[in-house]
Amino acid sequence: MRFLQVIFLFMLTFFFCCSEAKKEEEITVGFSQPTEGDAWRKAMHKEMEREVSFHPEIDLQVKDAKNSSAKQIEHINEFINQRVDLLVVSPNEAEPITPVVEKAFEAGIPVIIVDRKTNSSSYTAYVGANNYQIGKLAGEYVAKMLNGKGNIIEVWGLKGSTPAIDRHKGFLDGIKGYPDIQIVAEVPGEWEKEIAKERFPTVFTAHQEVDLVFAHNDMMAVGAYESIKGTGKADSLKFVGFDGLAGPNGGLQFVEDGILDATFLYPTGGEEIIKLAYDILHNRPFKRENILNTTVIDGRNVHIMQQQANKILGQEQSIERQQHRIDEQIELYNNQRALLYILSASLVVIIVLGALALQALKAKQEANKALVAKHQEVVNQRNEVALMAKKADKANEAKLKFFTNISHEFRTPLTLILGPVEDALQSNISTDLKKDMLLVKQNAVRLLRLVNQLMDFRKVENKKMKLRAYEKDIVRFVKEVASSFERLAKKRNISFKVQTELRELNVYFDADKLDKVLFNLLSNAFKFTKDGGKITLAVALSDNYEGVDISVEDNGKGMSSVEAAHAFDRFYSGDTSSSLSTGLGLALSKQFIKLHRGEIAVVSEEKKGARFMIMLPLGSRHLNEDEIIADTGEHLLQMAPGVLDCQELYSEDYTPDEEAKLKEHTILLIEDNKDLREFLKKRLEREFNVVEAPQGIFGLNQAFETVPDLIISDVMMPGQSGLEITSILKNDLRTSHIPVVLLTAKDTIEQKIEGAQSGADLYITKPFSYLYLLERVKGLIKNREMLKEHYSSEVSVDTKATPAPPKQLDKKFLNEVMAVVEKNISNPNLNANSIAHDLGMSRVQVYRKMKALLGYSVNDYVVKARLKKARHLLLHSDKNISEIAYEVGFSSPAYFSTAFKSHFDMSPSDFKAEKSAKEKSA
Ligand code: FRU
Repeated sequence: MRFLQVIFLFMLTFFFCCSEAKKEEEITVGFSQPTEGDAWRKAMHKEMEREVSFHPEIDLQVKDAKNSSAKQIEHINEFINQRVDLLVVSPNEAEPITPVVEKAFEAGIPVIIVDRKTNSSSYTAYVGANNYQIGKLAGEYVAKMLNGKGNIIEVWGLKGSTPAIDRHKGFLDGIKGYPDIQIVAEVPGEWEKEIAKERFPTVFTAHQEVDLVFAHNDMMAVGAYESIKGTGKADSLKFVGFDGLAGPNGGLQFVEDGILDATFLYPTGGEEIIKLAYDILHNRPFKRENILNTTVIDGRNVHIMQQQANKILGQEQSIERQQHRIDEQIELYNNQRALLYILSASLVVIIVLGALALQALKAKQEANKALVAKHQEVVNQRNEVALMAKKADKANEAKLKFFTNISHEFRTPLTLILGPVEDALQSNISTDLKKDMLLVKQNAVRLLRLVNQLMDFRKVENKKMKLRAYEKDIVRFVKEVASSFERLAKKRNISFKVQTELRELNVYFDADKLDKVLFNLLSNAFKFTKDGGKITLAVALSDNYEGVDISVEDNGKGMSSVEAAHAFDRFYSGDTSSSLSTGLGLALSKQFIKLHRGEIAVVSEEKKGARFMIMLPLGSRHLNEDEIIADTGEHLLQMAPGVLDCQELYSEDYTPDEEAKLKEHTILLIEDNKDLREFLKKRLEREFNVVEAPQGIFGLNQAFETVPDLIISDVMMPGQSGLEITSILKNDLRTSHIPVVLLTAKDTIEQKIEGAQSGADLYITKPFSYLYLLERVKGLIKNREMLKEHYSSEVSVDTKATPAPPKQLDKKFLNEVMAVVEKNISNPNLNANSIAHDLGMSRVQVYRKMKALLGYSVNDYVVKARLKKARHLLLHSDKNISEIAYEVGFSSPAYFSTAFKSHFDMSPSDFKAEKSAKEKSA
């Protein structure tokens, strides 16, 4: 704002300066001329103009009255009305002009009277020669020229004008002293040459005796001369006039040419008039009466006067040229000034525009600031939304987790239901009960399938579900799946056919997933088709693209168009009669087919049936590398532990291992779920001693106390988890050798890794087949037995040839036992107690660990170690048997001999004798 104020001030100053310059020009000088028709007046005007040119501020306005007093009065009034700054008047006649000049003067306009006068003293200043004086000068000159005698004709100027009157008076006074000089006649010339020329001859004719013509100005004298020129009398006449004007038609030239005898200089005073006007207007001191000098010009001085006049003329012309140049310079200056004004104005405009631009920039910056703030607000809002979305994701995740955990929870009870049902089906029960049991089993399996589908969903949602495709004959695969339904079709009298013209077609697909999809579609078809209906499973090469079409068609209940449109939506519940499993199964099927880059669709009409179509692409180009696996039969293994899709595990052909085993091994079962614990205990007790613990902490105590042969523990338990228990057990010398089997509902690879890291020997996911668990438990115990056999075959611990190297802690334990025994081997009191004391363990723990690892007690180990060392001494030293017996810690040589004999089937003395005999023979 301050900047704009400065610009405004600058502009004001600028225009003020311009207007100041203009004010200098505003002086108007009005000049009323009686006539502009003669050379003298023209010379006067020219002089004034020349002088004005030095004062450009003066505007000189000239009005020509053309010898009319009335006209002149009119002009002066106009100047008064115009409020000119100064008025110059040369009155045509004194009388008529006086009032209007007084009027101007009284109106406050400075008035300069020039040449001729008024009858009043109401004027500011006067410029002109003294006409009486020059008249008198002329009279005296003429008297001398005529030698005091002669007749004169006087040619008058305008009679009402003061110069005419004054010159006449002066002339009369000039010739006063010469009585023989007479004015014999008068010619009214009215200052005009032509009038004098016209009127002179008449007067002259009447006065032939005339010697001299006295005219009030040179022009009238020349007029008179010219009027009688041809008569021959002109040359004898003398002519005298006034003005003495320079130039070709001026009085000087006429004197030079001999036409006039003399002229009296009457200066125009143009220069003086302007100088005086300037002084008056600028309030400078000035003279009121400015009388111009005069002189006579005749044959004696005319030449020099001419030269002077010419010089003056030359100077005037030079001045004019200078003036012209000055005018040009002024014009140039004016142009440049105008240009400067334009430039200055442009500069001002630029500055103003710059200021405006600056202001706009400032405004823009502020707008930008506001925009940035707005942007920040939007970013904050977006972050908030992102945060909310994150929270929503978290909530959703928690929901899904909860959902999955609930599903997990279903698995244990389902396992518990299936277990006894399995048992019941194996036992000798009535046909009716068997039927019931089969129904229970079918529904439990169905429930398990549903739970599994829910788990699969979670995997799909978490993007953890991966395609594991391999090339396989799809025709055969479809037929295999279909065969599971043949019995049901037969039972319900449903016409169920697999239709295909293909004998074999290799397609890359994930058998596990496609099995689930087909199983689901067929289950639905059977569910919604009445007994006696028709179901067709068709496989064909696609007509439209490079792929295979598999369709399942039934003539059952069908779907409405709305139901069909939402058939693959997750949990769509448009129709309350459609079960959750159907909806979930179809939604999951769609995900599975999508994983194959295939399509699944349905066409259906209510009460007429439905046709589901699957389209799978051929080849493997559409699959990623990690989605293709080699057909190693892995899929079969993969399917084996799962209860639901492995029908054979529940087939009626199943016979449990009834072989009674001796209960030589103890299993610790840590499980918080009482039902599952009892279920497992009941079955395990058939072959093992079972110790149970309902919680992790009890489990740990039992483990240290009983040192079992194997531990089965649940993972998810209140208090200590199965993983923590495993870790503690595996890091404790007392229990590190015990195989641990973990049971869990969670089957992600991460959890399996976690289980392995804790040191667990096996990780079984729920729901599990009891038979599978039993087999794995037996396997682990057998493995342990093999280890034991290996250790026990050698007295010393040699780990190099073990079938599976013992765990680090077990090796440490055995080394420590060996070291204690080696060190104290001579001490007969070395026994299980002292060793346990040295190892910082209880006697029972050491006993059980030794028994578990080597299969015999600590005391047996000590005796074996003593005997082994004795044998070594017998072979490699010269000591006698008694000495050796004591050295290896036997309390008496007799006891040593008995023990040695029972171990090596030979007495020490015999062993020694045999050794000596061998040495001798060698
Ligand atoms: C010019 C003139 C001069 C003369 C003067 C008198 O108009 O006639 O010749 O001297 O006027 O006013």
